[in-house]
Amino acid sequence: MKACITLLPGDGIGPEVTAEAVRCLQHVARKFNHEFEMQSAAIGGAAIDAEGDPLPAATIAACHKADALLLGAIGGPKWSDPDARVRPEQGLLRLRREFDFYANLRPVAPHPALLDASPLKAHLLAGVDIMVVRELTGGIYFGEKTRTAEHATDLCAYSATEIERIIRVAGRLARARRHRIVSVDKANVLETSRLWRTVTERVLTAEFPDVSLEHMLVDAAAMHLLRRPADFDVMVTENMFGDILTDEASMLAGSMGLLPSASLGDDRKGLYEPIHGSAPDIAGKGIANPYAAILSAAMLLRHSLQLEEEAVALETAVARAIDQGVRTPDIATAEHAPVSTRAAADAVLQEI
Ligand code: IPM
Ligand code: MN
Repeated sequence: MKACITLLPGDGIGPEVTAEAVRCLQHVARKFNHEFEMQSAAIGGAAIDAEGDPLPAATIAACHKADALLLGAIGGPKWSDPDARVRPEQGLLRLRREFDFYANLRPVAPHPALLDASPLKAHLLAGVDIMVVRELTGGIYFGEKTRTAEHATDLCAYSATEIERIIRVAGRLARARRHRIVSVDKANVLETSRLWRTVTERVLTAEFPDVSLEHMLVDAAAMHLLRRPADFDVMVTENMFGDILTDEASMLAGSMGLLPSASLGDDRKGLYEPIHGSAPDIAGKGIANPYAAILSAAMLLRHSLQLEEEAVALETAVARAIDQGVRTPDIATAEHAPVSTRAAADAVLQEI
């Protein structure tokens, strides 16, 4: 098939890990006889420096033309002044909204060989396979904001429609997995959470009677993720809770550098990005973990291009590289000496 992919390398380690994901995609294309046309566009701090705008019009246009978007990472100390009017993160948030990418899928399934890389005890990690579904275009991220010298507010708002559609995504995913959903909220305090609970029950009872539902308060969920992570199947939650819980959940896998994500709307186009940030402390050193970016590319093959076999081939290649002990510094141990970003991606290429 022919597909058009817009690359959004962004800041810090973003360009380094995106370059490796691109090599893997091109290798898959050659092997399976596809043609992926790729073009890069500016986003985040890099775009602020070049054009004064974290999401320039040319970037939006390039994204509209593409079948899928592959993003590296955005942000960094250079643009982090709390009083700055223009911030790199605004580019990503506007992009999510522009294309209505409301469903953020963040799979967490520790590789058996990496249990020693997690701060959790290995026996807790056996069998962990969680799909976190984070609502991505609503809630406190996008509510009205106010700020004076001595006062600030961020409004958290959700409509029933916004909740319904994300719960349906979770329901469909649960059906293809173990048929269990944990919906995370703070219904003992927040009105938005009480609406979330009501709508969740309504949608699942009516449309997914074969899927079981448990409500869990977000503070308890943060605890249970560490205490009994293997009990979770699909976890669905609102925007900010999902942001926080997936950073926590990444430690089950051993490193932020291992977790991919897909941000989807109602059509095929999607935005794919590692959940990690721009890691300014290691940027430019060639030691960032490329696996999360490569696994994000695999999600792109699956969800936007419907190339399941190719997606599995890429995921299997990453798993085999890890099997062989090919580890960047974030997951290296005394037994497994650290390798570079490029060397880790080379190991994946070899296995495709
Ligand atoms: C993420 C990031 C973003 C978020 C930031 C960069 C705006 O942390 O994708 O998890 O909070 O959604
Ligand atoms: Mn985050």
